[in-house]
Amino acid sequence: MGTPVAMTVNGKATSADLDPRTLLVEFLRDHLRLTGTHVGCDTSQCGACTVHVNGRAVKACNILAAQAQGAEVVTIEGIGNNGELHPMQAAFRDHHGLQCGFCTPGMVMNAIHLVKKHPSPSEETVRAGLDGNFCRCTGYPNIVKAVLAGAAAEKR
Ligand code: FES
Ligand code: FES
Repeated sequence: MGTPVAMTVNGKATSADLDPRTLLVEFLRDHLRLTGTHVGCDTSQCGACTVHVNGRAVKACNILAAQAQGAEVVTIEGIGNNGELHPMQAAFRDHHGLQCGFCTPGMVMNAIHLVKKHPSPSEETVRAGLDGNFCRCTGYPNIVKAVLAGAAAEKR
């Protein structure tokens, strides 16, 4: 017998009886099959698991699913619009802000939150804002360019 947990994920109401130790990232990936949210470390360092919980960027390996009870959760699968990329996703594509792509969903989710807080961020602000997201391919210069371009695109 698990703990009942209910939340809205990408606009859809969802609920399950879960082992109370279930992490939010496990709920998203293993129960809802939303595998765009990645697990790179499981120790809250890499940021690959970043999603939005009530509008804030959160590392989904760092909270229990039960802690998101009643929350509005958005994953990388939920940010596009009718098959169109979100402007931040398009900026990552256009500015080669990815190589293997493993870190990309978390980078994009954190970047969207960063731009909400800082609509015209400086390069320094972008670098500081993304310091909890690691790219093992080390393509940081293009990631920063992509976030700056995504911020500009979101203002249009
Ligand atoms: Fe969550 Fe690395 S998997 S921070
Ligand atoms: Fe490969 Fe970032 S693009 S880890």
